[in-house]
Amino acid sequence: MRRIRSAALLMAAVAFSIQVSRAQSNPSQRVFRLDGGDVTYVAGVNDAGQLQTMYWGERLPAAQEFAPPKPGQGSSSFDMSSNTTPQEFTGWGGGLYVEPDLKVTFPDGNRDLVLKYQSHRVVADGFDVVMKDISREVYVTVQYRIDRETGIVRRSAEVSNRTGAPFLIEQVAGGTYNLPRALNYQLHYVTGRWAGEWDLQQQPVHAGRTVLESRRGTTGSQNNPWIMVDHVGDHDQDTGEVWFAALGWSGSWQISIEQDVVKGVRITGGPNAFDFSYLLKNGETFQTPYFYGGFSSQGVGGASRLLHRFEVDSLLPHAPQPKLRPVLYNSWEATTFNVDEAGQMALADKAASIGVERFVMDDGWFGQRNNDHAGLGDWTVNPQKFPHGLKPLIDKVHSLKMDFGLWVEPEMVNPDSDLYRKHPDWVLNFTGRPRTEGRNQLVLNLARKDVHDYVLQALDKLLNENDIAFLKWDYNRNWSEPGWSAVPVEEQKNVYVDFTRNYYDILEKLRQKHPSVEIESCSGGGSRVDLGVMHLTDEVWPSDNTDAYDRLLLQEGFSYAYSPAVMMAWVTDSPTWVNQRALSLEYRFLSSMQGSLGIGANLNKWTPEDFAKARTMIDVYKGVRETVQRGSLYRLMSPREGEQAVTESVSRDGRQAVIFAFLHSSSQLYPFPRIYLRGLREDAIYKLRVVTGKSEDDTPQSATGAYWMHHGVDVALRGDFQAAMFVLDRQ
Ligand code: DGJ
Repeated sequence: MRRIRSAALLMAAVAFSIQVSRAQSNPSQRVFRLDGGDVTYVAGVNDAGQLQTMYWGERLPAAQEFAPPKPGQGSSSFDMSSNTTPQEFTGWGGGLYVEPDLKVTFPDGNRDLVLKYQSHRVVADGFDVVMKDISREVYVTVQYRIDRETGIVRRSAEVSNRTGAPFLIEQVAGGTYNLPRALNYQLHYVTGRWAGEWDLQQQPVHAGRTVLESRRGTTGSQNNPWIMVDHVGDHDQDTGEVWFAALGWSGSWQISIEQDVVKGVRITGGPNAFDFSYLLKNGETFQTPYFYGGFSSQGVGGASRLLHRFEVDSLLPHAPQPKLRPVLYNSWEATTFNVDEAGQMALADKAASIGVERFVMDDGWFGQRNNDHAGLGDWTVNPQKFPHGLKPLIDKVHSLKMDFGLWVEPEMVNPDSDLYRKHPDWVLNFTGRPRTEGRNQLVLNLARKDVHDYVLQALDKLLNENDIAFLKWDYNRNWSEPGWSAVPVEEQKNVYVDFTRNYYDILEKLRQKHPSVEIESCSGGGSRVDLGVMHLTDEVWPSDNTDAYDRLLLQEGFSYAYSPAVMMAWVTDSPTWVNQRALSLEYRFLSSMQGSLGIGANLNKWTPEDFAKARTMIDVYKGVRETVQRGSLYRLMSPREGEQAVTESVSRDGRQAVIFAFLHSSSQLYPFPRIYLRGLREDAIYKLRVVTGKSEDDTPQSATGAYWMHHGVDVALRGDFQAAMFVLDRQ
């Protein structure tokens, strides 16, 4: 976790502390306290040597003392104390029935692992606690780091084998977060599928275990590795206690939310245990993915804002100053695989004329890629489409004052490709079994060193030979038959971890060698969005669904966990291919301007009026994008809850607020509900600028923040699929 280097450092230094103390009554008990932002997190070692949660919530005064940590009472002979103690990291053993953080099998068949405190050390921004099995030389360093600004805690663990022999890890987590006992918890998470990602769900936290997961090899969109928990009935976006957790892992994963027998709630997250094992040899260590946790007393809205801030200031590759996203053009929906030099140049001319800053050529430029049946794996320019290579197109794009981006899908291969003909053994497969295709393609086994090296070298060569500023890194299917026959049987399931580690390694190496190149994580839409990939990529593609109305719902779900700063949103053609819904160009722009604006329409079909409108809207966007991408997002009306959707973004310096309002359909003469703004300074004067749409006639031109927040503003929207945008500038 990077240190914050902004002007806020001075405040942050005061706002942050790590304390290790001995409990007064028993000096062998150790208490570890972290303070960051508005959050205090306290864990301690109890008499039984277990590390347990003591407090996680609203920041407490520094002088606050804690009673010594006490193991939970066993509820009966059926539930020993280890099941009712809110442990931070448990081995599976000694009669544990709750979700363990680590489960192993030793070569002699022993599967019992009981971890006890051994030592600790304080490090920058956190502490490490070393735990050890009661008899075997298995060590686990439980690691904590806190983000000074947001109080987000980063948990992870390093498992170390000094037993003299290998053992199998069968389940491992970054750690467990424990919530205070309560009976009315509610879980928020997202579900989805291709073109329908980010579908928000709420359900009570039930007795027993709820597992959110991906068994797909990568992050997936059926669930996303993020959750929030608040209290049932806390319906306001911006009030109430919320705990949240998110995994930094782009492989198969699981987050278990478990209400135990005494109604304690445990949240455990790590690689998915399904079909998993990892052979840890003597002398080796296994570092888990990061499992982040945070707390806000300002509702799910406040929790999202903390996550956004953390992503922008601490996680993204160039944090705390990631570059604002340029307005880009992408050729996919216009040309699909039919790309060629003349066609792309013509689109580039048109894109430049409306103020686009980055021109991205999508799929179809390489190998024999004339459709989705061939070419993946052959990362050389198609000579029929680009007889002189990419240089003439790139030069043209540069001459138009745009930078150039290119689509790749490096982990995949079509059976109809030179690469597959040469290396059929490079794909995930079980010997002698069918190889199931998805979109006519197979998944390369990136866990293999030769495959890793091939992919790295192919991308490196592409970037060395061409002046490319941006890669859209796509990934268009999930795993099947995840076999790896080239390694001994007991190592074959290492594929789940080694694949993802090699994916990260390639991203890291490319970034080191080509530090100015930016990368987008795309997976047929939003199937690879998580805090792991976000550390190595600059933006993400949330969905192939570019219908501007559907996007309001998708973008809202996305925004619960992820920042608009990374959320690419294209303006595409109408009616959309998705729903055949016709929407005005203005509506489509306003929907996309809620994130990082891109254009994905077929500009060859645009009228002069469309170009004029686009020029105006892109110009407006450039004037507000810092507020939209870096500001604080308030979800004022949810598209899930009625006919309206409204968001407000307030700039970091508080000088600007940008409001987008959408009406799906008006009926029975009902006016648009009044909009009450948030996050303004009560006594400051803000001037209203209506960019598109109309405010009601009695709306003042300028008023205090208090007026806009408490009196509110009425917009005059009527009809179907109408939209408005207005800006408040502090005087
Ligand atoms: C899926 C992506 O999400 C699309 O934007 C596009 O790049 C296609 N793949 C290209 O095959």
